[in-house]
Amino acid sequence: MVIIFPVIIFLSICCSVVQSSPLDVTVVVVGSYQYKTAVPAIEAAAELVNRKYFPYLSMNVSVLLYPQFYDCDAYTDNIANLAARNYYEEAPSSPGARKIYIGPTCFSEALNIATLMNELDVFPSVGTDSRISDKKAFPTTVTCSATHHTVLVRGFRALLAAYNWTTVFLVCDDRPDVSYYRAICRNFQAPTALGVGVRVNSVTFNSASPTMTFDGLLSRAKAASRVIFLSMHMPLTRDFVVHAKRSNMTTADYVYFCSWPSISPGFPEMRWQTDDGYDTDAWEAFRQLFILTFDNNRTLPQEDDLFARRRSASIYNYTYGQAERMSAPVVSGYEATLVIAQVLNESLSEGGSGLSDARALTRRFFNRTFATPTGSVYVNENGDRFPELVVLQLSLKTEYFETVFKYQAATLGASVVNDSIIRWISGKPPSGKPGKCGFDEKSCSTRGSLLDIWTAVGVTIVLLIGAEIIRRILAHDMTAKDRWWHVIEHELVAPMQPSYRATYHLQLL
Ligand SMILES: *[C@@H]1O[C@H](CO)[C@@H](O)[C@H](O)[C@H]1NC(C)=O
Ligand SMILES: *[C@@H]1O[C@H](CO)[C@@H](O)[C@H](O)[C@H]1NC(C)=O
Ligand SMILES: *[C@@H]1O[C@H](CO)[C@@H](O)[C@H](O)[C@H]1NC(C)=O
Ligand SMILES: *[C@@H]1O[C@H](CO)[C@@H](O)[C@H](O)[C@H]1NC(C)=O
Ligand SMILES: *[C@@H]1O[C@H](CO)[C@@H](O)[C@H](O)[C@H]1NC(C)=O
Ligand SMILES: *[C@@H]1O[C@H](CO)[C@@H](O)[C@H](O)[C@H]1NC(C)=O
Ligand SMILES: *[C@@H]1O[C@H](CO)[C@@H](O)[C@H](O)[C@H]1NC(C)=O
Ligand SMILES: *[C@@H]1O[C@H](CO)[C@@H](O)[C@H](O)[C@H]1NC(C)=O
Repeated sequence: MVIIFPVIIFLSICCSVVQSSPLDVTVVVVGSYQYKTAVPAIEAAAELVNRKYFPYLSMNVSVLLYPQFYDCDAYTDNIANLAARNYYEEAPSSPGARKIYIGPTCFSEALNIATLMNELDVFPSVGTDSRISDKKAFPTTVTCSATHHTVLVRGFRALLAAYNWTTVFLVCDDRPDVSYYRAICRNFQAPTALGVGVRVNSVTFNSASPTMTFDGLLSRAKAASRVIFLSMHMPLTRDFVVHAKRSNMTTADYVYFCSWPSISPGFPEMRWQTDDGYDTDAWEAFRQLFILTFDNNRTLPQEDDLFARRRSASIYNYTYGQAERMSAPVVSGYEATLVIAQVLNESLSEGGSGLSDARALTRRFFNRTFATPTGSVYVNENGDRFPELVVLQLSLKTEYFETVFKYQAATLGASVVNDSIIRWISGKPPSGKPGKCGFDEKSCSTRGSLLDIWTAVGVTIVLLIGAEIIRRILAHDMTAKDRWWHVIEHELVAPMQPSYRATYHLQLL
């Protein structure tokens, strides 16, 4: 299951541009189960648009959902068909009216629709994978997610550079259902992704495996670096640093990072206190732990928030808990709807000519920051929403995680790191450099190195003898039939995979 929380927007530019007033816009929400909770927020945004843009725009919301499909893979096979049928068979309410498609949450769905829309070549669409961001393939594509892997890579790179840390160790959870975390490791491992001269080593494990243990991972980390990135869910991260604490690996020399995408279903928040008996260890271990997340701690204005909660309970059979926050994908659906309205109204106020040209309309989203009631939304020059990256640390005073570092995607600028805000154990950041004897403190033990040399010599001699034996065998007269082990070059072609795995390639500057 691939969930990446994009909000995809497809604007269908339909029919002749007959300028009626107001411009009728129908927002068609296409998506899987998470959209059930996103729809009320999109409806709240449409209500706001109707108040704010009267008498220029009139917006209605229509919903295309298969409630029985709870997972992305099942949905992917049906989504393009559903969207296409709606597009071709359901005529707009009036001549000149527009339909806007918003959706979906799963990447593979998005790719299916983007392909479809691109063939029609009339839809600007929106997503978070670089395949969708590829403007050659999808010239009418815009992404609008509240998280972005490219921003995460750039922000972490800026942080490493600020402290001159050049050796990083990644601990990567590779269980199949943690695609967010697998993507992080893949992205960080790309050559020079974290900076020229930054060495990245990693270990991969599967947290779903019953044989998984922390000790082996910790000793690998200890031997490789003091700057350790834990790419895994927050509760597992907590367990990890608690074990690290017990292995004396949370001293002032160490710094740990992890990432939490947003308030979203399936991504539990980090808590130091869980009453599991390890709270004291966690409290201490968290002193040099930093959480990389995005500026998506946003809430709808009170009136819209109430509207969305009421509709959610009365129409969509989902009742929010008293203290339950709306997730980042829900808020970004609200924001995307308002951004679309702004772009349409602008185009309208300039004579509406851009409304009939999908590419021109798409370009109106690029390289600008939109103001919305929830905060600013920056869309870069490629049509991808780039949120601000924030780094959180547990405050010893308030016992909450608080922002200590920011990376502004819009200006590519990192905030100045104020070390008096960051509560380093020793008052200063770890150097991240190995001591005289390496990170493992074994590299300069004479006995060890002598032993290593003798081992190496022994192995070399064995290899030479082996090579000589093989040479003699080969030199011996042999027919082709005897050489059953000889593989012909054209047989060495990897078999084609009928399906591909979603990969998150990065476009680095
Ligand atoms: C929106 O809904 C109203 C009332 O249900 C209807 O009168 C209007 O025609 C609809 N507009 C569009 C664009 O579908
Ligand atoms: C990083 O290195 C630069 C120059 O090499 C130096 O000016 C700066 O103070 C260093 N920063 C830290 C946090 O050590
Ligand atoms: C823990 O590690 C530090 C150095 O990182 C060392 O000074 C200290 O003696 C160690 N403590 C224990 C109990 O091993
Ligand atoms: C998110 O916002 C709420 C209220 O606006 C605040 O109480 C909370 O501390 C914030 N969380 C973070 C992680 O910034
Ligand atoms: C509403 O949701 C509840 C639990 O979330 C479920 O048991 C019930 O069947 C749902 N009702 C409808 C009409 O979908
Ligand atoms: C929408 O566009 C009109 C001009 O066509 C403009 O007067 C109005 O202020 C715009 N509305 C908003 C909310 O920006
Ligand atoms: C993006 O906008 C900024 C000013 O807001 C401008 O300086 C820059 O050249 C623009 N970039 C592109 C690629 O248009
Ligand atoms: C760093 O933070 C402290 C405490 O908030 C503040 O007093 C100080 O002025 C800050 N220094 C800089 C350079 O921003």
